[in-house]
Amino acid sequence: MEKRVAAAGPLRGSLSLPGDKSISHRYALIASIAEGATRIRNYSTGADCHSTLNCVRALGVAVEGAGTEFVIHGRGLDGLRAPDAALDAGNSGSTMRMLSGILAAQPFTTRIFGDESLSRRPMQRIIQPLEQMGAHIRAREGRFPPLEIQGGPLHAIEYALPVASAQVKTCILLAGLYAEGETAVTGGGSSRDHTEVALREFGADVTNGTHRVAVSGRPKLTALELDVPSDLSSAAFFLAAALLVPGSRLAIRGVGMNPTRAALLDFLRGMGARLRIPDLESRHGELVGEIEVEYSELEGGTIEGPLTAALIDEIPVLAVLGAASARGLTVHGASELRIKETDRIRTVVDNLRRMGVTAEELPDGMAISGRQKFRGARLDSFGDHRIAMAFAVAALAAEGESVIEEAEAASVSFPEFWDTLERISEAR
Ligand code: S3P
Repeated sequence: MEKRVAAAGPLRGSLSLPGDKSISHRYALIASIAEGATRIRNYSTGADCHSTLNCVRALGVAVEGAGTEFVIHGRGLDGLRAPDAALDAGNSGSTMRMLSGILAAQPFTTRIFGDESLSRRPMQRIIQPLEQMGAHIRAREGRFPPLEIQGGPLHAIEYALPVASAQVKTCILLAGLYAEGETAVTGGGSSRDHTEVALREFGADVTNGTHRVAVSGRPKLTALELDVPSDLSSAAFFLAAALLVPGSRLAIRGVGMNPTRAALLDFLRGMGARLRIPDLESRHGELVGEIEVEYSELEGGTIEGPLTAALIDEIPVLAVLGAASARGLTVHGASELRIKETDRIRTVVDNLRRMGVTAEELPDGMAISGRQKFRGARLDSFGDHRIAMAFAVAALAAEGESVIEEAEAASVSFPEFWDTLERISEAR
């Protein structure tokens, strides 16, 4: 599907966005192995989170509901059943990597596969720790999906992450629920901590330090009533659009602002963004509140060190903002971007150049010149949801119309994106 996006006049309004993708996955997975029925409201509408629901259904978990509200009938730690067929994780790296932690502990063998993009993403990072814990995993070329996971009794490990990945950290912690004693992960750095927060809410014994996170095995996990906050990573596209289009003023309600995600807001403020957070409350251990944003003249900035992990999903849209800012944006230490749904260093720079922006690929990042004007162009999401949405934002600020190919990719995390964009943007 192609989408035409013309330059927009001021963006105005008050928005409610779909539930957080990262939190939805975690609530669904943990609810499946908890005791009792967990009700989840504002569950993400994205295809990725539906892949997770379909996988747990195939493992014998009853899931009732539709739309954004589901009841998950947890089967307890030991109640999952061998699926009749291979599990389909779709485009979702989170589903495959996090669920594998649970599958590694089951007394049966499970096969799990993904789409073309997921089939190219590295799984060595979960295979290694899970095998250390006692599972046996076969993968294409030893490191790519599909995976065949022969589960069994696991033992606790102390694992130093080679990359600061929340997905890998989560995989190991979920496996650790099945091991005797304490399973610990170090090196997670500033990666998101929704798993630690959620596990504690469900009743697990979790130690969450800055450098080391640990979980005690065989906890009693008890069902909950949960509300998923709106996804800050989806909000990022609208924050960026409002910052870019003169005269804009938006409010986004009920957004998750967990400190391991809200680095985005600090970074934007550092660039000169006018943001206000009029209220903030804690819900199930997650901070939630409203964000008000208005058009701002941006300075530019550098993303490097621990900040890259904290901003990893927002770098495509920050690159767009960087091009419009006074000093531009430089990103270092982000080679992880090359193994996301697409090689996001390449796909961001490619699309920026199509719009006439001066941008350079670095081996582990990118350098985007500032004070650039966007020219309407034929753009390509390359099937990556965040690239589709980031360049819709760029197109709003461009001279002339743009066409975005494979625009439907947005549905992976945010099916309502195009409708929402239409609703808040007036033609210029
Ligand atoms: C996620 C962690 C990040 C992020 C992904 C979601 C999560 O991946 O890019 O969109 O929910 O834990 P990595 O942990 O692989 O960096």
